[in-house]
Amino acid sequence: MLIFINEELNQFHLTNKTVSYIFHVMKNGELGQLYYGKRLENQADFSHFGAYHIPTAASCHVEKDDPAFSLETVCQEYPVYGTTDFREPAISLRHPSGSSVSKFEYAGYEVLDGKERIPGLPSTFANAGEASTLVITLIDNLRDIKLKLYYTIFENSSSITRHASLENDGEHPIDIERLMSLSLDLNDHDFMMVHLAGAWSRERHVKERKLQTGIQSISSIRGASSHQHNPFLALKRPHTTENNGEAYSFHFVYSGNFLAQAEVDHYNTARIQIGIHPFQFNWRLNPGEAFHAPEVVMTYSDLGLNGLTQSLHTLYREHLIAPVWQKRQRPVVINNWEATYFDFNAEKILVIARQAKELGVELFVLDDGWFGKRNDDTTSLGDWFTDPDKLPGGIEALSRAIQNEGMQFGLWFEPEMISEESDLYEKHPDWVIYDPERPPSYGRNQWVLDYTREEVVDYLYERISSFIRSAKLNYIKWDMNRNITEAYSASLGQDRQGEFFHRYILGVYDLYERLTSKYPEVLFESCAGGGGRFDAGMLYYAPQAWASDDTDAVERLKIQYGSSFVYPIYSIGSHVSDIPNHQTLRSTSLKARGDAAYFGTFGYELDPNKMTDEEKAEVKAQIVTYKLHRTLIRHGDFYRLISPFESNEAAWMVVSKNRAEALIGWYKILATPNPKKIQTLKLAGLDSVSTYQVNGSDQAFGGDELMQRGLALPVEYNGVNQHQAERGGDFQSYVFYLTKNGG
Ligand code: GLA
Repeated sequence: MLIFINEELNQFHLTNKTVSYIFHVMKNGELGQLYYGKRLENQADFSHFGAYHIPTAASCHVEKDDPAFSLETVCQEYPVYGTTDFREPAISLRHPSGSSVSKFEYAGYEVLDGKERIPGLPSTFANAGEASTLVITLIDNLRDIKLKLYYTIFENSSSITRHASLENDGEHPIDIERLMSLSLDLNDHDFMMVHLAGAWSRERHVKERKLQTGIQSISSIRGASSHQHNPFLALKRPHTTENNGEAYSFHFVYSGNFLAQAEVDHYNTARIQIGIHPFQFNWRLNPGEAFHAPEVVMTYSDLGLNGLTQSLHTLYREHLIAPVWQKRQRPVVINNWEATYFDFNAEKILVIARQAKELGVELFVLDDGWFGKRNDDTTSLGDWFTDPDKLPGGIEALSRAIQNEGMQFGLWFEPEMISEESDLYEKHPDWVIYDPERPPSYGRNQWVLDYTREEVVDYLYERISSFIRSAKLNYIKWDMNRNITEAYSASLGQDRQGEFFHRYILGVYDLYERLTSKYPEVLFESCAGGGGRFDAGMLYYAPQAWASDDTDAVERLKIQYGSSFVYPIYSIGSHVSDIPNHQTLRSTSLKARGDAAYFGTFGYELDPNKMTDEEKAEVKAQIVTYKLHRTLIRHGDFYRLISPFESNEAAWMVVSKNRAEALIGWYKILATPNPKKIQTLKLAGLDSVSTYQVNGSDQAFGGDELMQRGLALPVEYNGVNQHQAERGGDFQSYVFYLTKNGG
């Protein structure tokens, strides 16, 4: 049983092997939060968790004869503003009278076996027997508005998902000004807030700060989840480490504007909220209509940050990524972008593809520049017709030729964009997002298409599916290279512009939904100028994401380390590229580049014909190594060991569920003069009572030894030990493969 309900006391306890989440109906009919954390045995009554005491005279109270009952001082489940609580609310509605005061009272519950889809939105899924969903209905009786709160608890996960929906059963339209997907009041604020921030080329860097009184938030109002802030917020206790201690996380399954915040009040309670950003948001809900806020995944761990990560990875692997791609090997890719940029023709592409095939690559991706008259980034977005000058036989002939070589074929699209210089713009200038009273701003010489219009989505569906069918595409890279400015759609009318951003994302999801349900065998990789829209919403449709345009091995340590907090590593697009690196001009060895890229969806972003025979042999060996380990990389538990944000080194590892094998990546960024004599790396997740062999050597090491004392690292050069030194110089890296004896 996953959900215990005390109907007499109106208490709800969601629990499984690891977590408990408890709330109840308070004396005024609204919901109060009682407990969220490590699993508790079910008890007949938890109401003492919600005991409240007389607040100061400055507080307002709900009832005349109970001065102690103030919404300001109790932990709530889905708070409103205007009825004694002065913190930011989860919901704000504008009623026909102009008033924004609401009161939602408990009206009943329902328990579902498994989990239902949220209409029009990506979300985790679960079959009957895998999870239970509790639906709480609350009603604002004055207005006839129904608020439903959904909670899904899974059999085998320490994550619980939540979302909210609103139904207008009344006679008048209402305006939704704010509808957060989650609100959670925690009893104290003794936490560090951890989040992932960055920019183009340095996405998802780990940031930490102590929770302070007041509101601290991360957000995006760019129309995409953004390079700048991933829609993910975690709280850890000050002493929590990667492997020990308590942590919570909140991850938004959404790709558009979002707000994630922690509000610490004057009693040091912390209110966590995450949802669609209320800024510029206003949704008109007519009588008979419903609105669904996207899903949030909340996770609790008492096994440190790696515990959080492993829960999220497992949940996404089994309950978010499309079933068809959950267990499928991801192909080793070669992408021609950095090899040719816009300068290619069919012959040049075939030469690259053939050489790559010989080295073991399995899928060729033709990137930007194959359509319209696109010889640079100033034209043709929207004209999704093959450029006959570059590819006289069309994409079809090229795809056929590559598939005949025994490789799969993939194609780049940027379906949400339009160039000023394009046939599409000549035909449909009104399809562009812009404010008719002002000139539109530019970004990479392009504008954004108005995905709130059905005809735009229809056009892209027709164009993309025609290539899927005619060229038998195996893969699509869906790019999105600029954010939205002058957000306005003439099709929405004057009073509904507040719906624009959400409707835009619903249009994007609609196109993804139509394509992926019609062509489930096509592997989608999402991309947004690298990792500008790497989020759980995208992951639902596209099981992998191009993590960053920055393929420099050193920068990748940070990008992949940060991304790994949330996203399964086999969803993190990571390629070996040429040197000097095109984003940083840094030169690292082929080995270092490969050793970093293994811990993701492996591939290449270069012209293999320009390599020496030794380099080709090394690439061949890298691909063999990756293929050998990719099942482990896909299914194993991931542990971060050393943070590149805190030291000159980075390390991580993947351990198979049965602990029989492990793959470890260790990286040292700059050389140390006169280094420490014995250097070891402490591992995690091994079987402490078994022994392991390292890289097939004869010597066996105890799992406990490898975790407590550490794995001895090869000897480093120290100025005089040239005969003994196995490594030295900048950008060192090693990959170790461990096998359990008798495992
Ligand atoms: C973006 C992507 C790159 C590449 C280019 C093509 O920057 O992130 O990988 O596809 O667009 O224009």
